Amino acid sequence: MEITRIRSGHGNPAAIEALIPELLAFDTVINRASGLGEDFDPIPEELRHSLTSRSEYRATLTWIGRNHGDIVARGTADLRLTSNTDTAELWCAVRPDLRRRGLGAALLEQMESDLAADGRTALSTYCEIPESVRTADLRGAHLAAETGAGTLPVALPEVSFLSARGYGLAQIERCSVAPTATAAELDLEGSDEYVIETWLGPVPENRLDHVALLRRRMSTDVPGAEKYGGEESWDAERVRSSDAEKIAKGETMATALALLGDEPAGYTQVGFSAEQPEIGWQYGTLVIIDHRGHRLGARLKIANHRSLAEYSAVERVYTWNAVENSWMLAINDQAGFATWAWVGMWTKNLH
Ligand SMILES: CC(C)(COP(=O)(O)OP(=O)(O)OC[C@H]1O[C@@H](n2cnc3c(N)ncnc32)[C@H](O)[C@@H]1OP(=O)(O)O)[C@@H](O)C(=O)NCCC(=O)NCCS
Repeated sequence: MEITRIRSGHGNPAAIEALIPELLAFDTVINRASGLGEDFDPIPEELRHSLTSRSEYRATLTWIGRNHGDIVARGTADLRLTSNTDTAELWCAVRPDLRRRGLGAALLEQMESDLAADGRTALSTYCEIPESVRTADLRGAHLAAETGAGTLPVALPEVSFLSARGYGLAQIERCSVAPTATAAELDLEGSDEYVIETWLGPVPENRLDHVALLRRRMSTDVPGAEKYGGEESWDAERVRSSDAEKIAKGETMATALALLGDEPAGYTQVGFSAEQPEIGWQYGTLVIIDHRGHRLGARLKIANHRSLAEYSAVERVYTWNAVENSWMLAINDQAGFATWAWVGMWTKNLH
């Protein structure tokens, strides 16, 4: 297998355009084999963005493995450039008919050595297991997450692969899905002073600092955050830049922000793309510690789903939560979510 590497924004533009359909076809094959469903098929603009975007805050590395000219394996690593510069979030996949021949191990080894050479030694990755696949093997041996909450069957290829490559199963997340229409029937009211604002699109100028503060807290104040790096540096300029990137890749963000007077108390965001307008993807949700205990998490999610149902074409929203985060799971149950898949979060330190 011949492995090449592209850093986002640094490839030859014509070569990248030619590569996109090939990678889309590869990623679609991988997703169809995973059993996660067509909602998880790759989005062309997201893929283009991961190859072409030039941001001062983040970069994506893409590795492509070919045999006789055909793509047989591919990997990605997301890098933060202004904070957590020793971390990388990676992922790799091998064409289903060519698995168990050492291609995955060869690709991952190359990725790790390139990342280590770049000072990226705190690695994290994930594997997504559909609910039906996990429940098909309840009697076999299971690997427990380091948090103590949740297990995955050892016999699954991804679990064996990552264990064999020295990754530790740090945490398990539940992926769940909710129809946005359900929110209209749910109780949004609270008998307190909090006000919830919702909007679609970029963060308004007068809320940039509020969102920057919440994004900063989001990187430290959720269960397990310390495993994937320290506090992220966020200011109004980075929020603007993040919004500009979303627009560039055809993604709209729906935000609900809770305020007590002018003080930010919590937020939740869902993104949807122009190419897949009926599907929403949950981004961060956070209620600041001082403001917990007012059902703000559920109220934010319900408000955001109502706004999506009213002002967008989004019909369903997928979300991910750490299984030990029982508060957020309860909030999601209240907001109408049902389990779709289980996600193993893995870490490895190259030191
Ligand atoms: C995980 C994945 C990349 C493995 O690719 P692969 O080319 O089949 O893996 P390799 O042949 O290099 O296997 C390396 C080791 O992993 C383990 N392994 C991989 N697949 C396994 C399986 N089906 N059963 C048991 N062990 C397995 C073995 O220890 C193997 O070494 P061995 O063959 O010497 O026993 C592939 O299954 C895949 O693309 N899955 C979907 C994508 C994904 O979930 N990626 C998550 C990881 S980032």
